[in-house]
Amino acid sequence: MSKLDPALGLVVGKVHKTYNATHVLQDVSLSVPGGEFHTLLGPSGSGKTTLLKIIAGFTPADAGTVTLSGSVITDTLPEHRNIGVVFQNYALFPHMTVSQNIAFGLRMRRVPKLERQRRVQDVLALVRMSGFEHRRPAALSGGQQQRVALARALVIQPQLLLLDEPLSALDRKVRQEVREELKRIQAETGVTTVMVTHDQEEALFLADRVLVLESGALRQEGSPHDIYRNPVDEFVAGFLGPINLLNVESRPGDGGMVLRLGAQDFVPASGLAVTVVAAKLSGPMHLAVRPEQLTVQPAQGTAKPPDALAGTVTGVEFGGAVVTVRVEVEGNAMAILALSPDILAIASWDPGSPVWVRIRQARVLPVAERR
Ligand SMILES: Nc1ncnc2c1ncn2[C@@H]1O[C@H](COP(=O)(O)OP(=O)(O)OP(=O)(O)O)[C@@H](O)[C@H]1O
Ligand SMILES: [Mg+2]
Repeated sequence: MSKLDPALGLVVGKVHKTYNATHVLQDVSLSVPGGEFHTLLGPSGSGKTTLLKIIAGFTPADAGTVTLSGSVITDTLPEHRNIGVVFQNYALFPHMTVSQNIAFGLRMRRVPKLERQRRVQDVLALVRMSGFEHRRPAALSGGQQQRVALARALVIQPQLLLLDEPLSALDRKVRQEVREELKRIQAETGVTTVMVTHDQEEALFLADRVLVLESGALRQEGSPHDIYRNPVDEFVAGFLGPINLLNVESRPGDGGMVLRLGAQDFVPASGLAVTVVAAKLSGPMHLAVRPEQLTVQPAQGTAKPPDALAGTVTGVEFGGAVVTVRVEVEGNAMAILALSPDILAIASWDPGSPVWVRIRQARVLPVAERR
């Protein structure tokens, strides 16, 4: 399969969709350069599937445009869009063999038999399913069925691949294998891809860029690293993985902002990697800290280091490679991740033990309005 011209890709312009007076998509605009892999994350009901259906042509938008490889396809029939789709619960045809399932789209496009057979063989090799041509879907594992579904979407050599939670039915181990295959296949074919997922780890692993949708509106778009490290608000922060939100009171200080956490002061400018997102400098804010950006050490018999906060252990949870230490600091519950080599020491920390907690990196976010 040929690589796409990197200049070509998908552009969605101000797409709006209403169902029964509910705004399901609100002026959603996005751009996926040719060959890139974007993941779309968002809670249930946020409009992810609706957006993919509009791009694929299965649902009309109320307003907005869809442009693929430079052509406006807003009013083009789905079968003329040359888009490969693997939808949520989009089952294989049970009465057809693997080959017949994959060849279906080629038959519809009247591709001659010999070429059809060659392309089916090629795509089976691509998804590592050669030898399974004559099986029926019922005789395949879940992971194998997903590969066939992917092969069926890819065999038409689409200009765009749309995947709607293609891995959600698989168990954890198979899911990880198939997602690695998916990454390889996408890189090999160079097909522009948009994939919906609920799973933040999957979204971060697969994507060149991550899009976060909430209530039909795009909240943030960025590289996996950027969106994880620099969320614009609490919603995005929490959606990309666990995060501690500490209640702080901020006031203007000499060099910027001083944060007060209970009885303890912080000066974000003094060597702490704290980024201030909040528009105002004073009032209640949240200090948002990822669990791996915190370190903890026993306080017994040592003086408080100037850059540490005094806390109390409330629990230690063993989780395999990582250990979660739960700590309370000035009335705020915090979860801190420590790697297993420290477990023997940490496991002996009783609830109530005093500890010093250090924040390596944090963001000051405006306190979200309760919805
Ligand atoms: N055909 C329809 N008629 C009316 N409402 C619809 C229709 N399809 C979707 N909706 C509504 O639109 C909203 C968005 O649905 P959508 O399926 O796009 O969400 P989603 O983000 O894919 O959720 P999930 O993660 O659960 O799959 C929901 O509130 C849903 O109830
Ligand atoms: Mg959906």
